[in-house]
Amino acid sequence: MALAVRFFDQQPADVADSSLRDDVLQGFAQAQKALPPKYFYDQRGSELFEAITRQPEYYPTRTEEAILAAASGEIARLAGRDAALVELGSGASRKARLLLEAMRPVGYLGIDISRDFLLASTQRLAADYPWLDVSAACADFCRPMTLPDSLDGLRPVAFFPGSSIGNFTPEEAGVFLRNLHRMLPHTGGLLIGVDLIKDQARLDAAYNDAAGVTAQFNLNLLERIRRELDTDLDPTRFRHLAFFDPIAARIEMHLVSTRDQTVRLEDRRFTFRAGERLHTENSYKYSLEGFRALAEDAGFRQLRVWTDPAKLFAVFYFAA
Ligand code: AVJ
Repeated sequence: MALAVRFFDQQPADVADSSLRDDVLQGFAQAQKALPPKYFYDQRGSELFEAITRQPEYYPTRTEEAILAAASGEIARLAGRDAALVELGSGASRKARLLLEAMRPVGYLGIDISRDFLLASTQRLAADYPWLDVSAACADFCRPMTLPDSLDGLRPVAFFPGSSIGNFTPEEAGVFLRNLHRMLPHTGGLLIGVDLIKDQARLDAAYNDAAGVTAQFNLNLLERIRRELDTDLDPTRFRHLAFFDPIAARIEMHLVSTRDQTVRLEDRRFTFRAGERLHTENSYKYSLEGFRALAEDAGFRQLRVWTDPAKLFAVFYFAA
């Protein structure tokens, strides 16, 4: 059977590669070395992230899925007729599946930076839901975007699950939400999952799973650099570090150099002292009131919020 997935490539391969190279050169040259977390998600990284979501300590995914499954009827009513579900960072599109039967949208658009992963998962979606008009856009949704015209006449519901919004600082999240609000027609909506502030031990454990999958995910960033760039970087000379900072209300992930070392990248050399950190990710956590205020400042209006009984995670529905 031919799987009719309309594909929009907003991110040519050469652009993606040169931005990794440029961002590594820039990130390694800073006093506080850092890399953007979007580079975690190559094929291997996307697989490792899926494995993280199955770890017992990593509560966000299963908690959000339970909330979505229980709320799907209400979400369908809020979305209304002629909806198009627009999933940002769609990954394996597993969460959209929790909504499709109840919502029965006309269209689905998956947007992800990992092209092959995106194509495979949207093709599976098209095969499993023959009544659904499936499109895929390979794009960096951190940048302002326009919706493809395949959605013309439909009411888009942006779906941003998984607390991916937490990778932005609150200021960046405000800008992102404002851009998203500008992209949506006034009939549109936003369904967004947000991880909540909670006790530190629970948060620390979620990013330090006993099986070491999060450590592998973090270290895969260095493996990717070694695979894709001209470098002598040795990932075995770094270790995983993740902890909750209650003042900033964020998890920080780092890769710590286990020795004094020099890393060559093309014709440049970067020194890492023993114990020096390469900052790889922030994952901000919010209160229910704090996130509502952030979204409403960006132009959205809260219609509904759902949480689990332990208040670990929240799903918000906003009107554009
Ligand atoms: C996909 C950004 C929501 O912050 O929990 C999981 C990524 N990093 N474990 C998160 C992640 C380490 C995840 N987000």
